[in-house]
Amino acid sequence: VTDQAFVTLATSDVYGLGALVLGHSLRHHRTSRQLVILITPQVSSSIRTVLDNVFDEVIEVNGLDSGDTAHLALMKRPDLGITFTKLQCWTLIQYSKCVFLDADTLVLCNVDELFDREEFSAAPDPGWPDCFNTGVFVFRPSLQTYGRLLQFAGVHGSFDGGDQGLLNSFFHNWAVKDIDKHLPFLYNLNTSSTYTYLPAFRQFGHEAKIVHFLGAVKPWSYKYNPQSRNAYQELDSPTGHHDPQFVNLWWKVYSSCVVQNHICSDSLNLVNSVSQLSIEIKTELSDPEDRKRWEEGRMDYMGRDSFENIKKKLDRFLEQ
Ligand code: UDP
Ligand code: GLC
Ligand code: MN
Repeated sequence: VTDQAFVTLATSDVYGLGALVLGHSLRHHRTSRQLVILITPQVSSSIRTVLDNVFDEVIEVNGLDSGDTAHLALMKRPDLGITFTKLQCWTLIQYSKCVFLDADTLVLCNVDELFDREEFSAAPDPGWPDCFNTGVFVFRPSLQTYGRLLQFAGVHGSFDGGDQGLLNSFFHNWAVKDIDKHLPFLYNLNTSSTYTYLPAFRQFGHEAKIVHFLGAVKPWSYKYNPQSRNAYQELDSPTGHHDPQFVNLWWKVYSSCVVQNHICSDSLNLVNSVSQLSIEIKTELSDPEDRKRWEEGRMDYMGRDSFENIKKKLDRFLEQ
């Protein structure tokens, strides 16, 4: 299907990494739809190169910022004014219907049936269920709607300073009008919901289709131990309440797909500096014995697995 697409957004390199994991999860579950990412000029060229491998279209747009510091302060997320950029997904008129997914979501199975829904479909927000959450929504690109959204924003602003406040005011009858436009919560399961309503999570959590790492702490804020396959937080970092199984799954996709298939030294440095990861860089291993050693964590640090050799391999990759 070429006229329908999953769309995400990244205005920085770290969100770009989130988008890569999301893109991989969609491919892994064999979506038949196109994958599109909107990026702003802040995204570095090395991350763009990697995004190009995973997404069908990487489209540069200019950042749109609400600049609404007062409302953003209420959410304690001064960084989210830039989510107005998301509105530009309505300009993708080469597609007839799209599903927007935040870069901090992860797809757990094929969710192509979302395209059976109409604009504007979304799942309830876990904090205020009469509002929808804008981490996952179905929409129809249209320059007319885009124009009306911008005009609406100019007149009414957004009650949270981000796209979610604006879109909830714009599609204001969502809560009561048409139940078909309410996506089941399983399509936008807040990974903290285990803590807010554990009994329901125990009962239904295994049916989750898309998880959303909502909040200031993201999977990439964690460190990861590839040997034990566990993500963990620094003691002095702000506490997030994401369910560990989902954070570990994010890291599993990240380390197995993103790092191994698209390794490039710049993005790796970036990742290392952003989240101080302790991810191993695997070199090409022809000999099964070598591979076994790697997998058991017994690297030949001074010999063939030395930093110099790994760097050479990365340079060769970059030259290709
Ligand atoms: N986003 C971005 N750069 C930012 C902040 C947000 O690209 O600096 C995009 C990204 O796609 C992200 C979405 O906007 O997933 C919404 O932000 P976030 O997921 O952080 O909000 P939350 O879901 O935690 O409220
Ligand atoms: C929300 C949503 C996110 C949105 C942000 C700003 O909590 O999860 O998708 O961008 O608020 O409105
Ligand atoms: Mn989000």
